[in-house]
Amino acid sequence: MTSPDDNLTSPDAPSNPPVGPETSAPPTGEPSQAQHPAVPADTPRDEPASVAAAAGGQEAAAPSRVPAPRAPEVPTFEVTLRIRRFDPERDEEPHWEDYQVTVHSTDRLLDALHQVKWEQDGSLSFRRSCAHGVCGSDAMRVNGRNRLSCKSLIKDLTPEKPILVEAIKGLPLLKDLIVDMEPFFQAYRNVMPFLVTSGNDPSRERLQSPEQRARFDDTTKCILCAACTSACPVFWADGQYFGPQAIVGAHRFIFDSRDEAADLRLEILNDREGVWRCRTIFNCTEACPRGIEVTKAIQEVKRALLTRKI
Ligand code: SF4
Ligand code: FES
Repeated sequence: MTSPDDNLTSPDAPSNPPVGPETSAPPTGEPSQAQHPAVPADTPRDEPASVAAAAGGQEAAAPSRVPAPRAPEVPTFEVTLRIRRFDPERDEEPHWEDYQVTVHSTDRLLDALHQVKWEQDGSLSFRRSCAHGVCGSDAMRVNGRNRLSCKSLIKDLTPEKPILVEAIKGLPLLKDLIVDMEPFFQAYRNVMPFLVTSGNDPSRERLQSPEQRARFDDTTKCILCAACTSACPVFWADGQYFGPQAIVGAHRFIFDSRDEAADLRLEILNDREGVWRCRTIFNCTEACPRGIEVTKAIQEVKRALLTRKI
């Protein structure tokens, strides 16, 4: 059977070949090049007719095809993930298990965890969603430090030794790397993380100067990952403490010139389990994957409470 491509004549073919069995119209009914007087039969398939026409119907120069440069090979290496596993239906206590994976130097811890889950043990449980440091769902403790697995390159985690991966601390462990985030979110809800205003809604936007906006810019970056709160020894020892993130969440509205509930939020944090429990250890600031100056924000809330000046 003749395909449409069979009707493309070679550059050596005469420009008006006789219609015969070899050059008959394609079965689709589409006219072949030979039947179009405006399109010489020796026009290459991917070259505009005008180019060939400009060449006076003669054979046009073939477009030069420069091969795309090959990307350099990314080196691979072996690494051991030592993961703290816990299955509430099977285990009394968490235990460590080792997994060997082959990773590229560009891989992140999240990629290695996927490799374990998809190729070695499908029961491994962890949270992740965006894989790009936005959703905040994959905070975990890696080599003793809280991190987002999607923002941690394996090559930066001393891969010559087993990489220790466990759930964040201070929140109830549900399974493997998953904790119950409800106490964390409850503390956040308690500080009223939303704009409070009175009176009728304005007919236009609420104006704010760049300086007023800059006052709370840092704390708008929070992605609620809990890396700060679960790195805080005060929170480990006393789960009632609001924790750094709730104070960051309050800070974001306390210092917003458009908000009218700063006093209320300050009173909420002027609690036994509030801002005064902070011992200025800086673990929270070190843990924050968004680079928020968490301890500074807590200090500003303390100062606002003492001076009652925003
Ligand atoms: S302040 Fe930083 S570490 Fe704490 S929850 Fe927000 S983003 Fe995560
Ligand atoms: S998966 Fe969303 S922040 Fe890491």
